[in-house]
Amino acid sequence: MAVEAKTLSPELQEEIKHWTAGNYPVWTTPGEPFPLIQSPAKLLGRADDNFIKGATAMSCIHNVIVRSLNSIYLQARNVAPTKISAITPENRVDVETRDDFVDYAREWSILLHMHHQGEENCFFPEIDKALNGKDIMERNVQQHRLFDEGVNRYDQYLEQVRRPAKGVERVGEEKFLYGPELCEIIESFGSILVSHLNEEIGTLLSLRAWDEKLNIHRFMEIEGEKAMKSCSLLATVEFVWHNLDAGYEDGIHKDFPSAPAPLKFMLKNVLWFPNRRMWRFSSCTSAMKPRPKLLYA
Ligand SMILES: [Fe+2]
Repeated sequence: MAVEAKTLSPELQEEIKHWTAGNYPVWTTPGEPFPLIQSPAKLLGRADDNFIKGATAMSCIHNVIVRSLNSIYLQARNVAPTKISAITPENRVDVETRDDFVDYAREWSILLHMHHQGEENCFFPEIDKALNGKDIMERNVQQHRLFDEGVNRYDQYLEQVRRPAKGVERVGEEKFLYGPELCEIIESFGSILVSHLNEEIGTLLSLRAWDEKLNIHRFMEIEGEKAMKSCSLLATVEFVWHNLDAGYEDGIHKDFPSAPAPLKFMLKNVLWFPNRRMWRFSSCTSAMKPRPKLLYA
């Protein structure tokens, strides 16, 4: 993707070269097994414009996806393989743990689908419209298709190992949850997904080349509000909340996401309670601190 020559300062032209597709720096910080994304605000040491702010906000939500995927991968192997229908007083704890873990792992996929549908249906078209139909985000949409198959396998697998809701007939074969099998599925798409999550940050920063006044940060906020309203507060929003690390990159993202203080208070202190069993597996606590040791890792 060639950057159009515009009247930008030499410094900005130089910066854009870095972010333009195919020319990304390797942005990685420790994370297991998939590396976290380093934010542009940290990388550039400033967040004084809408491109850096918007791309930094995107890096924060992408890191929620990476942290939570890591927490699933690291704990999957230690959840005992337990048959769905065989619940006895002896294995009740194992069965409940398996169910909670599967519910947690399903929330990851719900978040991922919601994030990418929001981008494809709203956020990216808004950007392309503002840039007079330049289709700049198309490359990112194409990248989504690269991990569709792997994520579908992940969804199907969790569907086969979970207990159907009350009164619902099981469709298809019933399976044991076998951690290494789930890890293998995650390995089949994890690296492609994470490099896409990384590259998208560069694409957002490179948008400056087309229109310096484009407010991608505002687009992000609108998209974030829409997503928040469309999903379950007790499950999906709490899932995000429990995979935020306020201390990441020296605490510069401690106020992410932007939301009213009373809502944040409720997420931290009250709304986690109904699904508390799921949050045993999250990467961070409701106080946005990384767990020193994951329970089943
Ligand atoms: Fe994204």
